Amino acid sequence: MIAPSILSADFARLADELAAVPTSDWIHVDVMDNHFVPNLTLGLPVVKSLLKVTDIPIDCHLMIEDPDRWAIEYAEAGAYNVTVHVEAAQDPIKLAKNLKAAGAKAGLSIKPGTPLEPYVDVLKHYDTLLVMSVEPGFGGQKFMVDVLEKVRQARRLVDTGHLKLLVEIDGGINAETIEQAAQAGVDCFVAGSAVYDAAEPGKAVEALRAQAAGAR
Ligand code: DX5
Ligand code: ZN
Repeated sequence: MIAPSILSADFARLADELAAVPTSDWIHVDVMDNHFVPNLTLGLPVVKSLLKVTDIPIDCHLMIEDPDRWAIEYAEAGAYNVTVHVEAAQDPIKLAKNLKAAGAKAGLSIKPGTPLEPYVDVLKHYDTLLVMSVEPGFGGQKFMVDVLEKVRQARRLVDTGHLKLLVEIDGGINAETIEQAAQAGVDCFVAGSAVYDAAEPGKAVEALRAQAAGAR
């Protein structure tokens, strides 16, 4: 699965930018609050407007403080998958239950320096694991190959039946890096600059998908 990140899109033309990637599996929306990460993007009103102009499932990546307070509203608005950061969540198990009760899939994200093992039991309550392969906050950064060890761990836990979730990766995914991520066991690839800096974003989505499928 390929999830273009609109962080690299033109924010004045978001409806057109979604229309430019019609075969995307998910649309990845980076919500940043300038507290959890040193950058500020968009929030619930923009997500609500995006939901009105596309049928593609919206994947909200909340890089915010206090997701226990704010995440539920994204689920209630109709986001398909709502991902919170384990470093910010106070009660991630309760949060997952609340997100699912509101009709969304629940996602948990770990920053590059955050290990996976302490959260395996928590992840039993989640539908997606978002492994960050850059420090969250900005698009266009360099892929951190070391995080693929966590992808392999998660893949093993899923393949052996200990976890039941999609493994998603976010940061620095492009034609040079997607194959190694696919081989490590990623199910869903977020790509911002590799899609929206391309001359033809729609074709970039399809090329990345073909590359990942070929490498797997
Ligand atoms: C970074 C965001 C990413 C970002 C990825 O904090 O979570 O979703 O858009 O951008 P690229 O694909 O350019 O690394
Ligand atoms: Zn993201």
